[in-house]
Amino acid sequence: MGRIEEALEKAVRRIVPDTPPPPLRADDNTPSTPPANMDPEQVTDERLVVIKRPHSPEAEEFRKLKEALFKEIKRRETFGNVILITSAGPREGKSLVTLNLAVSLAQEHDHTVLVIDADLRKPSCHRPFGIEVAPGLSDYLTDNLPLSRVMVRSGVGNLVILPAGKQITTPCELFSSNTMRQMIQEIKHRYPDRIILIDSPPILSFAETRILADQADATILVVREKLCTLESIQECLKLLQNKIIGIAYNGSTVQYNHQNGYNYEYDKN
Ligand SMILES: Nc1ncnc2c1ncn2[C@@H]1O[C@H](COP(=O)(O)OP(=O)(O)OP(=O)(O)O)[C@@H](O)[C@H]1O
Ligand SMILES: [Mg+2]
Repeated sequence: MGRIEEALEKAVRRIVPDTPPPPLRADDNTPSTPPANMDPEQVTDERLVVIKRPHSPEAEEFRKLKEALFKEIKRRETFGNVILITSAGPREGKSLVTLNLAVSLAQEHDHTVLVIDADLRKPSCHRPFGIEVAPGLSDYLTDNLPLSRVMVRSGVGNLVILPAGKQITTPCELFSSNTMRQMIQEIKHRYPDRIILIDSPPILSFAETRILADQADATILVVREKLCTLESIQECLKLLQNKIIGIAYNGSTVQYNHQNGYNYEYDKN
């Protein structure tokens, strides 16, 4: 049994000590129907709309994003399961998109989803699930901790979180290390049906995200309306080139008639 497999099997559920619920499967005919038996009380962060408000138009947008991701993955000849989520600048919604997409995948497909919080400067993926930021990725990379010590079951379907870990001032060196490469390669090849989402710092601001983009199979670029300029998007496209699998347009003020005037600014409801 490989290290990653062992780690995932041993991953401790720190929030809810009971046996985790079985993975939820989508109804074949209605893949975007919200699951019925998710316990929303378990997660307190309202921004996890896929759990907190599964019937909302916002949650539906994340399910659409999930279906688009699957379509794109299937379209590619080799299944690339390591997906980086980034944006040009800060606060465009990378973490929000990572987590809602991850939950959506974990709920409705028979996949284990691993979220790696690679934003060592500003970790946030641990928070909605009430888990600690450390030990995590940086501890694994610096202190040779076993993965089983740092991976945490979220309590939501088959979603496992690898939190960021202790603060590190030089993430570039860590991310270009052999240990990091080997970890990504092992996860990628040993479990081709596992989806790995990597949350990251903004790519135009920080070099470590460019290193991560090289190691990932594909990148989703989050673009938040009013925060991102056309020039920044163009710069990102130039940097990421054929690694971009799609753009998640966040905070749109466009009214969609087919959704009865639904507005993606979820916190205005
Ligand atoms: N569509 C949206 N409508 C309203 N608020 C949003 C939206 N998207 C993100 N936010 C809010 O903006 C803030 C930044 O979001 P988030 O942390 O997901 O962005 P980020 O890109 O990960 O930021 P950072 O670069 O700091 O890591 C959060 O408070 C989040 O709740
Ligand atoms: Mg973030």
